[in-house]
Amino acid sequence: MATESWDGLLLGATLATLADDGGYGLIDDGALGWRDGVIVYAGPRSGLPADAEANADLVVETDGLVTPGLIDCHTHTVFAGNRAAEFEQRLQGASYEEIARAGGGIVSTVRAVREADEDALLAQSLPRARALVADGATTLEIKSGYGLDFDNERKMLRVARRIGEVLGITVRTTFLGAHALPPEFAGRGDAYIDAVCEWLQRLHEEDLVDAVDAFAERIAFSVDQTRRVFDIARTLGLPVKLHADQLSDGAGAALVAEFGGLSADHVEHTSPAGVAAMAAAGTVAVLLPGAFHVLRETTLPPLDAFRAAGVPMAVATDCNPGTSPLLSLRQAMQLACTHFRLTPEEALRGATVHAARALGLSDRGTLAVGQRADFACWQVAQPAELVYWLGGPLMAMSFAGGKRLA
Ligand code: NIG
Ligand code: FE
Repeated sequence: MATESWDGLLLGATLATLADDGGYGLIDDGALGWRDGVIVYAGPRSGLPADAEANADLVVETDGLVTPGLIDCHTHTVFAGNRAAEFEQRLQGASYEEIARAGGGIVSTVRAVREADEDALLAQSLPRARALVADGATTLEIKSGYGLDFDNERKMLRVARRIGEVLGITVRTTFLGAHALPPEFAGRGDAYIDAVCEWLQRLHEEDLVDAVDAFAERIAFSVDQTRRVFDIARTLGLPVKLHADQLSDGAGAALVAEFGGLSADHVEHTSPAGVAAMAAAGTVAVLLPGAFHVLRETTLPPLDAFRAAGVPMAVATDCNPGTSPLLSLRQAMQLACTHFRLTPEEALRGATVHAARALGLSDRGTLAVGQRADFACWQVAQPAELVYWLGGPLMAMSFAGGKRLA
């Protein structure tokens, strides 16, 4: 069989394709070919068409391991300033909720974001996105939620889109207007939700919103208030996800499942009824072990119940200045293994296959013909090493849509 010219061909590494339902799908001495940003061959080198190498525009010889590009399906990477001082307060005994109720926490980042213009916000956010990419991410979800007025939410979403353009990766934007109550709406939560619903429609018209999220919690918004935001998302045809049951069981998982949501995120306190609702709706559980770790939480998500019910579990960094200043998805996978006892395979699947599903993306997450040519090459001999090393420069190179990332 003659090969049409391929844009690229990667040779020699072990592929972890994740293409089947179980196992890593390992292929020793593998080959990966792509054209127009899409994988056209993923298999053993010995199975390549005889003229494949001669006809490829780019041939990369490598060793080690190649995985699908990692997908960070829950981040708040766009923000200004940092909250190191709040971290110190918590080390001295203050709780996240106490700090939030005293006007710190999320609202202090809101002040910093409002003060930064769009270019300054981009300049502060890009290094974090670069760090995530440097450890294997090729797709990032980025939320708004630190603007909390129309102009500043819009600014955040525009910065998120610009990060995708600058870095050559996919960025999926999520509108999180219902993240916290800004000071100018103190005591007027329902009026704030009215405003959020109106902003959502205008931001959708500007094509700045890929999905809609909210923070359903006793220090944030009620189930009824969240429901009103989700109703608008539904009329606009936008998928929903939710910060659900993080600090207490607020029936958030069941709510987002009722809307056929993509994911319920955090889910430490999700009840058996919530797990059942997620299973019935096909809603992914997004585990955020960085926030669990930093807040020194002790209540584990209902992992065995998710497994038993067949709820897919994704893993993400939750990169944010308050609860998870975490700049590596691979490190989040490591924390998911140590704190939540995920197997290394569950962690890798959680940052690829299941993360893609949590974003509603069916064109990525595995190394298979027809999938986007998004992949990362690692200087390790076996997949478990990805979650064995804490930190360290393991990634040799990565490609998104068939283009090598800088
Ligand atoms: O995912 N839980 C709410 N939102 C973020 C924290 C945001 C912040 O503290 O700045 C989270 O943990
Ligand atoms: Fe979050």
